[in-house]
Amino acid sequence: MKKRGSIFRMAYPAGILLAVSCAIETAASTDARISIQADQPGTKISPLLWGIFFEDINHSADGGIYPEQVRNRSFEDSDQPDHWALETTGSAAGEMAIDSSKPLNPLNRRGLRLKITGADAGKVRLVNRGYWGMAVSKNSSYRFSMAARCGEGFTGPLNVALESQSGQTLAEGTIGGLRESWQTFTLDLAPLATNPRAALVISPQKNGTVWLDMVSLLPKNTWKGHGLRPDLAGMLAGLKPSFVRFPGGCWVEGDELKYSYHWKDTIGDIAHRQPLWNIWQYHATQGLGFHDYLQLCEDLGAEPLFVINVGMSHREVVPMDQMGQWVQDALDAIEYANGPVQSVWGGLRARNGHPAPFNLKYLEIGNENSGPVYQERYALFYDAIKARYPTMKLIADVPTEKRPSDLVDEHYYSSPEFFINHAEHYDTYDRQGPRVYVGEYAVTQNCGQGNLRGALGEAAFMTGIERNADLVVMASYAPLFANVNYKKWNPDLIDFDSAGVYGIPSYYVQKMFSENRGDVVLPADIEISSAEHEDAHHGGIGLGTWEIQAEFKLIHDVTYPSRKPLFAAASRVSGTGEILLKTVNVSPSPLQTEIDLRGVQSLQPAATEIVLTSPDPADENSLAAPNHVAPVQRTFTAGAPRFEHTFPAYSLTILRLRAER
Ligand code: AHR
Repeated sequence: MKKRGSIFRMAYPAGILLAVSCAIETAASTDARISIQADQPGTKISPLLWGIFFEDINHSADGGIYPEQVRNRSFEDSDQPDHWALETTGSAAGEMAIDSSKPLNPLNRRGLRLKITGADAGKVRLVNRGYWGMAVSKNSSYRFSMAARCGEGFTGPLNVALESQSGQTLAEGTIGGLRESWQTFTLDLAPLATNPRAALVISPQKNGTVWLDMVSLLPKNTWKGHGLRPDLAGMLAGLKPSFVRFPGGCWVEGDELKYSYHWKDTIGDIAHRQPLWNIWQYHATQGLGFHDYLQLCEDLGAEPLFVINVGMSHREVVPMDQMGQWVQDALDAIEYANGPVQSVWGGLRARNGHPAPFNLKYLEIGNENSGPVYQERYALFYDAIKARYPTMKLIADVPTEKRPSDLVDEHYYSSPEFFINHAEHYDTYDRQGPRVYVGEYAVTQNCGQGNLRGALGEAAFMTGIERNADLVVMASYAPLFANVNYKKWNPDLIDFDSAGVYGIPSYYVQKMFSENRGDVVLPADIEISSAEHEDAHHGGIGLGTWEIQAEFKLIHDVTYPSRKPLFAAASRVSGTGEILLKTVNVSPSPLQTEIDLRGVQSLQPAATEIVLTSPDPADENSLAAPNHVAPVQRTFTAGAPRFEHTFPAYSLTILRLRAER
């Protein structure tokens, strides 16, 4: 039986929060009431609101969406042939070493020297197992390519094979005709069987010395034909992002300046790109380069948002009198993305396969940088960019002091309780300052490998973002990807290995918000029975750590109701008149709720409900059970503009309702 009692009320008019506590009676059968002013639309919702942030972290590029199968393909990782192994049989012997005596090109200094003896009485096998195994498929074809040269006495040929863990040959071919100068050879390999952990094996058939470089195995089938792994890119497309922030946060900065990101090193022929030590502790081939990110954005139908280094690493700062080249790099990046084909950088973009401009409109100056050194460097970028590209939107890392900014990027990583307690954070935010881009946010504590509890914390916070879409115009979860074999950060929205992929529950929260967008906020009022408030004390996500009272008392000097179980945002799709209601129930009990659509005469009977829930807030997805926590959609009959609906315990629910017009 439902309890009756006093009601705590949270009003969410457009932009401003009014918080009061009062005692009113509600119907005996309901735990809560949501009143929506359907005829009083509030602020417009930015069409850019929900986007994604791609960082090269956790092997999200190499060993991830950039589907190079060979690890350390250009032997640039170190002075040792990391990730390459020599195996021998019989009395054959092999020696391998990194050699830079005659590089493939001036930017690709290192290659592999391989000396074979005893080939008439055994075999030498050079083996690469890729990024925790090469996943190859029976119905696919792979392009093997390799630069090679030989020393005197080596006549070849080289056998190239894909092998299963048990040694079964899945595909093979032969390369011959080596000379003393570098040549690039290619082979198409079509595996006889699917295998998630295959290896590449190169076996010279004769004695002698051979040099190898740029040993690559890439699938021919890529997403939209633009070189990316289809299942991972498909997961991004599933989010329907309005923008893509790239190529990262800390990755852009680098621990030291010599490891900071320079887009010019990442374009054109992959043999000329400069691999770089990544702050997340691996070498990046730059196979996913600046041009490829722009192409990805175009293919996703998303606005590109490029983060450029402001002349600051985690440990160093470029002196002001040496900042010219850094600012020039920003101007050149814009010209590369947008300039006419007659321009220097626009011409290079055309030669790299994309004559039409990419229409870059957003540039973030630095990542998580601050202080006086940031302010003076930001001003340099601002002056140079706005003078040449006045419409370019510049995003700053902190409120700027010397020059304006179009947006300020805010980052939040914390517990589920923090996000729940800050669901009203933007309701009372200073509207006089710049608008906000929540560039990174995620529950990172008490969330396992990414569980429902974390996802609901984020969802509660996101209702606050959506209600305040006049202020917060863009938002992106972080980080986006992780190879499960190399998680440097936990959790991550999309987890994968060589062969499989799944979204954590937060993925579905992002997807549900993005797929169900209104264009105008509808003011909504939530009333919750005190009994349900009390219940929230005893269980659920906020157990024992709700701090909202202190937080908001400081600002308003009113007693703010704490331990709220229910959060909501309402909006309208102007074109169709559809009313969208997003609710987050963080409590351990279902909430029977009266929904009151004020200003609506009648509803079309058929309504849609999309629900993300699971019995235990600690529930997660995995490669083995990718849809354990996933949304379920059904239609139901709403009936009248005032109807009752039950929001399950631990749930995000989206209702799509159609007013009769
Ligand atoms: O998202 C992971 C990291 O968190 C980003 O690189 C950085 O911007 C933030 O500190």
